[in-house]
Amino acid sequence: MANKPVVLVTRKLPDAVEARLAKDYDALLNPSDALYSPDELIERAQGSDAILPCHTEHFTPDVVGRLPDCVKIVANFSVGVDHCNLDAFRTRGIIVTNTPDVLSDATAEIAILLMLGAARRAGEGERMMRDGSWRDWSPAFMVGSAITGKRLGIIGMGRVGQTVAKRARGFDMEIHYFNRNRLAEADEHGAIFHGSIETLLTISDVLSLNCPATPETINLLSAERLALMPDGAIVVNTARGALVDESALVAALKSGKIAAAGLDVYRTEPGGNPEIAALPNTFLLPHIGSANRETRDAMGFRALDNLDAYFADREPGDRVA
Ligand code: DGY
Repeated sequence: MANKPVVLVTRKLPDAVEARLAKDYDALLNPSDALYSPDELIERAQGSDAILPCHTEHFTPDVVGRLPDCVKIVANFSVGVDHCNLDAFRTRGIIVTNTPDVLSDATAEIAILLMLGAARRAGEGERMMRDGSWRDWSPAFMVGSAITGKRLGIIGMGRVGQTVAKRARGFDMEIHYFNRNRLAEADEHGAIFHGSIETLLTISDVLSLNCPATPETINLLSAERLALMPDGAIVVNTARGALVDESALVAALKSGKIAAAGLDVYRTEPGGNPEIAALPNTFLLPHIGSANRETRDAMGFRALDNLDAYFADREPGDRVA
């Protein structure tokens, strides 16, 4: 029997995914789940036909340039590929794939959680219950804002954005969106298209960021754009921290221009932003948009489908480079 292709797996994957990997490939697993440094990654990739990484590994042009020639495909366990310099991969002729679709529901769930958590001051309330500082109740106590019936602005109406819209309709929210291309009318389900981010922001009582981080979208939510939003608006980000000018967001949260923010992603990960964490009007999670068992299995299987296609001489379904 021919040798199985060698796949370097950079992080601990769900058991069912590792079992399928072990059946079909010569899998170099990472049972300790320790993050590999770039040098360690390159060293471990010697002799591998493929790498199955997460967004925690940064494939800069330097790293891509130093990958051994035997590596033919990088099958990401993520939909986002901002950790991969795609031009560098193209130059090397290494195929790159991602895992779209399978995490849209999970990420939309977290977006709704963040909207509610930020609007209804869930972080403050939770901290109060844990530190024993709840002393009183009055009509003025812990008053937040409703999301029901509010105008939701979505930037990035791809698979995740459309799922957020679908869930938000359950709260009778009026859906507005900005996207590079307008959706077909049948896919809008009544959502109102804006031809510019600026006009979208002026009516967004709640803003949800759902676009990828690319050179064009970095710092998309700048001080100037935050100033366009209605006073007391809510900002939610489940996409990537790089979309937001975090200093500008901190200033807007301090002034009350933005009433609250619900964030799952940060410019610095892991760790986040201590200035944001120090603000009472933030509801914060540690990049867990796709973190449920069903989704993590599905992401792993999708990455394996891409590897299977490549090694069976078929075009991988989710090729991005
Ligand atoms: C993704 O798939 O891009 C998530 O952010 C997890 O990496």
